[in-house]
Amino acid sequence: MQNGQGISQQSNLGSSLPSQVPTPDTITHVATNTPQPSLISSLIGDNPYFQAGFGLMGVGVGLTALRQGLMISSVALRRRMLVTLEISNKDPAYDWFLAWMSQQAANTPKNKAGLLSWTRSHQLSVQTSYEQRKNGSASALFNLIAGPGIHWMRYRGAWMQVKRERETRSQQLMSGIPWETVTLTTLSRDRELFPELLSEARDIAMRTQEGKLVIHTPWGIEWKPFGLPRRKRPLRSVVLEEGVSEKVEKDVSAFLERRQWYADRGIPYRRGYLLHGPPGSGKSSFIQALAGSLSYDICLLNLSERGLADDKLIHLLSNTPERSFVLIEDVDAAFNKRVQTSEDGYQSSVTFSGFLNALDGVASGEERIIFMTTNHPERLDPALIRPGRVDLSVFIGDASPLQAKSLFMRFYGRDNQESVGWEDIEPAELERLGESLEDFVEEQLHNGHRVSMAALQGLFIRSSARDVMDGVKTLFLEQKTRQ
Ligand SMILES: Nc1ncnc2c1ncn2[C@@H]1O[C@H](COP(=O)(O)OP(=O)(O)OP(=O)(O)O)[C@@H](O)[C@H]1O
Ligand SMILES: [Mg+2]
Repeated sequence: MQNGQGISQQSNLGSSLPSQVPTPDTITHVATNTPQPSLISSLIGDNPYFQAGFGLMGVGVGLTALRQGLMISSVALRRRMLVTLEISNKDPAYDWFLAWMSQQAANTPKNKAGLLSWTRSHQLSVQTSYEQRKNGSASALFNLIAGPGIHWMRYRGAWMQVKRERETRSQQLMSGIPWETVTLTTLSRDRELFPELLSEARDIAMRTQEGKLVIHTPWGIEWKPFGLPRRKRPLRSVVLEEGVSEKVEKDVSAFLERRQWYADRGIPYRRGYLLHGPPGSGKSSFIQALAGSLSYDICLLNLSERGLADDKLIHLLSNTPERSFVLIEDVDAAFNKRVQTSEDGYQSSVTFSGFLNALDGVASGEERIIFMTTNHPERLDPALIRPGRVDLSVFIGDASPLQAKSLFMRFYGRDNQESVGWEDIEPAELERLGESLEDFVEEQLHNGHRVSMAALQGLFIRSSARDVMDGVKTLFLEQKTRQ
């Protein structure tokens, strides 16, 4: 008999147990026989401990059910009554929102129950920014921004929960920056505040860039603004030979107006410019000023940059921010020695063919304006400067006599806001001084001697208008001895 065996085994075991412990015999007796109502009822009915136990159990079950019910209904309620907005740090709105939040806190008077409340929370981060004044000096500002955690704030009378989370386990593939999200939660009825809040944040961010030039640099496979937006340089402050500036300006404007024309003919909407010429002739300055005058940003690309490979280059060139020029400086240097090795033995891995493909291969982006500069156009591979890659090639040379005079007048002229202004020189005398400078540069040019615009600018910065003639003579003399 099965039962009997079990009992005998158990009793064998049980024999080693102390005598006061109930033996398995008694246990099996209770377990195998049908429950005896008298025993159970006496246990339950008469035993106050059991009664209390059952009572407690009942309360426990009830509470659990209630808790679950509450949880389910709170989830349902939250779904129905609350609305959340998630902003990830891949989105530009992320930085705008955090900046907005810190700015709101700074602007809110302490006694007002407004946004200030979130600064009382215990998780804060700091974001340091530099404020540049009109005279060029800068000071560091510390903005407290909401750190990872939960914060509360009020926006136009509505309470919002701000939850900033950081994903510590994974990072963005290329940049190594941890993923972050900010989740805003508010009542469903206030949902229309989200777009309002975001537009407000965007407008504030844009206002700091207004009238400024933004430079982007690659950050992994993405473009990120580099430093603070700079003051725009007036286009006319870059003095080029007559007609050169206008020629490039016209070409760019014509290109920008012909988007539809390109689309109709199935031609990729791209244009490439090459500015070549000696150092310090104003190539970089002109591109910056032109971008500023068209309210374009600049994406600065260094082909020899560490870690930049063909695939990344294609991605970068196909994903430039809207309204931006791509600027590649000293384009000859990147492929001069085919494999460029930096001091620590690192080899640049953008190949020449990879670069050509990124410029106009099938994977290259649709809309693009590229500016390239070089001091040595003769070193460039003809494949690079063929139309389609370089559509307009412009020589920007050393100072022509007229350029020298124009720069002089810009520097010392009285009606010029940028003039140094420490001298009180009659316009007629200024004109005479300018002309003698022009004649002198002309004379030198005939003898094959040149001076760069950058060198002239340096001279004008350190001398007064009347000393310029002496200074410029020394300048040429120095150059002759160097040559
Ligand atoms: N044509 C110009 N008009 C006004 N300023 C100029 C001009 N050319 C040069 N400069 C001044 O000289 C400095 C150097 O100019 P910039 O960097 O634009 O020269 P670049 O041609 O790009 O030289 P590089 O070939 O060495 O890069 C700037 O501060 C700029 O203001
Ligand atoms: Mg330059």
